[in-house]
Amino acid sequence: MKCVDDFRLRLGSHELIPIVQGGMGVDISTSALAIEVARLGGIGHISDAMVHTVTDRRFHTRYVKDRLKQYKFNVGNLDKSVAQFDLGLLAEATRLHIGSTMEAKRGPGLIFVNCMEKLTMNSPRETLRVRLRAAMDAGIDGITLAAGLHLGSFALIQDHPRFHDVQLGIIVSSLRALQLFLKKNARSGRLPDYIVVEGPLAGGHLGFGADWAQFDLITILTEIRDWLRTEKLDIPLIPAGGIFTGGDAVEFLEMGAAAVQVATRFTVTKECGLPDDVKQVYFQATEEQVEVNNTSPTGYPMRMLKSSPSLGSCVRPNCEAFGYLLDASGHCQYAEAWEREKAKLAEGHKPKIQDKTCLCTHMRNFDCWTCGHYTWRLKETSVLESDGRYKLLDVEHVFSDYQHSVGNRIKLPILD
Ligand SMILES: Cc1cc2nc3c(=O)[nH]c(=O)nc-3n(C[C@H](O)[C@H](O)[C@H](O)COP(=O)(O)O)c2cc1C
Repeated sequence: MKCVDDFRLRLGSHELIPIVQGGMGVDISTSALAIEVARLGGIGHISDAMVHTVTDRRFHTRYVKDRLKQYKFNVGNLDKSVAQFDLGLLAEATRLHIGSTMEAKRGPGLIFVNCMEKLTMNSPRETLRVRLRAAMDAGIDGITLAAGLHLGSFALIQDHPRFHDVQLGIIVSSLRALQLFLKKNARSGRLPDYIVVEGPLAGGHLGFGADWAQFDLITILTEIRDWLRTEKLDIPLIPAGGIFTGGDAVEFLEMGAAAVQVATRFTVTKECGLPDDVKQVYFQATEEQVEVNNTSPTGYPMRMLKSSPSLGSCVRPNCEAFGYLLDASGHCQYAEAWEREKAKLAEGHKPKIQDKTCLCTHMRNFDCWTCGHYTWRLKETSVLESDGRYKLLDVEHVFSDYQHSVGNRIKLPILD
């Protein structure tokens, strides 16, 4: 029987263990996590979501405080278009986050950044241009274009000196999305170096509608693989979503996948950014507690635990400090829901908001417990300690289990 270690991922001149740890914003996939995956010979992803908050935490910068100070006068105003991001500071924060990660990188693997298009930041095109270019300036090995169709993203960077040297990939959930991406980016004269095919069991936002349960990863991957073959396009395919064991991974590698992208199993590692108590909640989750809902103001369905403190919470929108989901005209669906409910109530009452969530505030505080479908199986991957808590895992343990395990066996950590 084969294991993942019998396969290799070839990307440009690199030969890698075919395990890609997927990006998990906001700083759930920390630099420490990605650095460890790269040290072990795979590809680790950091994320550039809410980069100012992340750098403030890591480097004691004051980007968020200063932004709030600048736009405090607008807090009571529903129109947030005035609260623009300073592009110079955005580039600076991105370079700090990514540059420091790349400096600390060791070993044969690579570090990529997950760049979500839906992070529209009150000026979608300009902020995305700055994010992508600053990541390239900071020496990132690769960029995974996520949460969006990215129809114009290559054009934003095609004159960058590293355009042909950085590994560039796209996440798609259908052949149609891939075809559109290739068509619209064709003028840049460059194909993606890899394609992540994300199925409906993934964590975070889903690239499906309310009918997500009718789709499955194997069918989508097969369709894309066969189409690429007909078009004579040799682009590595990386399936993602619900690949829980080494055996699951081998199944995809034998189908012709170049690697697998996994994330959920890393949420209960010491290096993961979630607070330790939240990691215990993930361990203890049952299948019934995992749901897909429409509370994200991005408009995409999102998978999370039903017990997420973000659900039904009524925090005042904090767009002057954060504002990552403001659209091109300064609106966010959560801020609108807040105004709608506030108008219904007598002064002094807190509005109740069930349909949308303030994703910036709650992702920042690790209160939106987004997760993959198989979170309820995490308890199979560890052991209970004498205090009744599950033992947190090392990234190395999880990575090595994916790499070497045979069949659907999962190697447990040793109890201290
Ligand atoms: C907690 C969590 C947060 C995630 N956040 C993001 C994100 O910010 N951007 C993104 O493109 N994908 C995100 N994902 C999706 C993963 O990168 C990955 O593709 C997917 O979850 C793999 O499936 P698995 O979790 O079943 O292994 C997230 C997944 C999890 C579990």
